[in-house]
Amino acid sequence: MTDDVLVVHGGTPLQGQIRVRGAKNLVSKAMVAALLGETPSRLFDVPRIRDVEVVRGLLELHGVKVSDGADDGEIVMDPTNVESASTDEINVHAGSSRIPILFCGPLLHRLGHAFIPDLGGCHIGPRPIDFHIQALREFGAVVDKQPEGMHLSAPNGLKGAKLELPYPSVGATEQVLLTAVRAEGVTELRNAAIEPEIIDLICVLQKMGAIITVHTDRVIEIQGVPRLYGYAHKPIPDRIEAASWAAAALATKGEIEVLGARQADMMTFLNVFRSIGGEFQITDDRVARPGVTGAEGGIKFWHPGHELQAVALETDVHPGFMTDWQQPLVVALTQARGLSIMHETVYEQRLGYTDALNQMGATIQVYRDCLGGTPCRFGRRNFKHSAVIAGPSKLHAADLVIPDLRAGFAHLIAALAAEGTSRVYGVDLINRGYEDFEGKLAALGAHVERL
Ligand code: EPZ
Repeated sequence: MTDDVLVVHGGTPLQGQIRVRGAKNLVSKAMVAALLGETPSRLFDVPRIRDVEVVRGLLELHGVKVSDGADDGEIVMDPTNVESASTDEINVHAGSSRIPILFCGPLLHRLGHAFIPDLGGCHIGPRPIDFHIQALREFGAVVDKQPEGMHLSAPNGLKGAKLELPYPSVGATEQVLLTAVRAEGVTELRNAAIEPEIIDLICVLQKMGAIITVHTDRVIEIQGVPRLYGYAHKPIPDRIEAASWAAAALATKGEIEVLGARQADMMTFLNVFRSIGGEFQITDDRVARPGVTGAEGGIKFWHPGHELQAVALETDVHPGFMTDWQQPLVVALTQARGLSIMHETVYEQRLGYTDALNQMGATIQVYRDCLGGTPCRFGRRNFKHSAVIAGPSKLHAADLVIPDLRAGFAHLIAALAAEGTSRVYGVDLINRGYEDFEGKLAALGAHVERL
């Protein structure tokens, strides 16, 4: 466990430039989509993170040849010989990520059966998969849930269906897309998620030969096709990582330019950042200027040099404020004057990390009520899902144990903002979703070292 500890000497403003690559939450799904093609696919700008390794391992177990391409960050996936894998081999990946559930449709199309291990991912609530299973059954899949995982078959093939999600779930929408593209007939999905990563997955599938229409009001129509082919795709940049670094700039009173970050995907975040008092500049004008070659744009975020202001916010599905932006931003809100409110409406238990911030000197109180806005699904269900953050508070160093990916990054930011030396235990979890975060911290002038 000792090599999984980062010693953070806090109190230094983070300053400099880092780069984000393709979004974790698109790249991993695009890799699953490659299974559906009859020819190889190429994905660019793939970050070196653990979730990508998990999907790569699962693809390889199923006979997909995955190799590095000519460009840095390019991978080539050849699905010509998709084959069954043993339950034991697949189970090696049990508990490591949520992505394996998305293998259902593609494996049913390619092999007629599938085995999905017990899922992992961050512990931020019960994270059920009932929407996924219901949708797969409506396509005609037979789902047999066993303690070791889920066995699926499609004795009569998969057929298009009329579906409506109880909530616009990202994963369930992806499940439907990845299954419907090769199901027989038309699928209509109502109350679909429309996150930018989903639209990018639709772009990938369209490149492969799929026919998908995104209508107004969260309705997606998919016309099944008998064959799909490989794609070449540069993914949407990681807007969660970009926002995490933006929050780090604000909390440490620094200035960070996030190369690769894209304004269009982050408008909601940028509005909130500005309301708090944070400053930003979209630097993609460099790329647009004639005669400037090789320059890459992004977004530069910095602390205004005066006190930050409190805000009332709630997390929501797109185009709302992302639930994954919440934790890093709350650290910055501990430095804002007044009472900020954060109402978490996507996950019922995603505020547990605030205990550690309180130990560091923050004043955050969590409530079961829906504070500051519209009542949500969790209001009458006894979940502590609203937080009131009173600031500004001087943060001091502490020993911290990282609970999950985004909360883990928030803890790291708090340690960087705090006076004194903190120890952050379990930092390797951050590698699940943040490429080379230690290298980036070094580039930004942070004083951190492995124990
Ligand atoms: C994706 O998770 C992301 N993960 C999450 O990011 C992200 O927070 C989330 O979408 C929301 O944007 C990946 O893309 C790998 P959901 P997902 O299905 O698809 C409920 C990160 O750190 N629900 O949209 O699993 C669920 O409990 C991660 O990168 C059901 O009730 O999220 C939650 O309350 C964390 N039944 C809500 O829907 C189901 O069958 C939204 O979940 C499915 C979901």
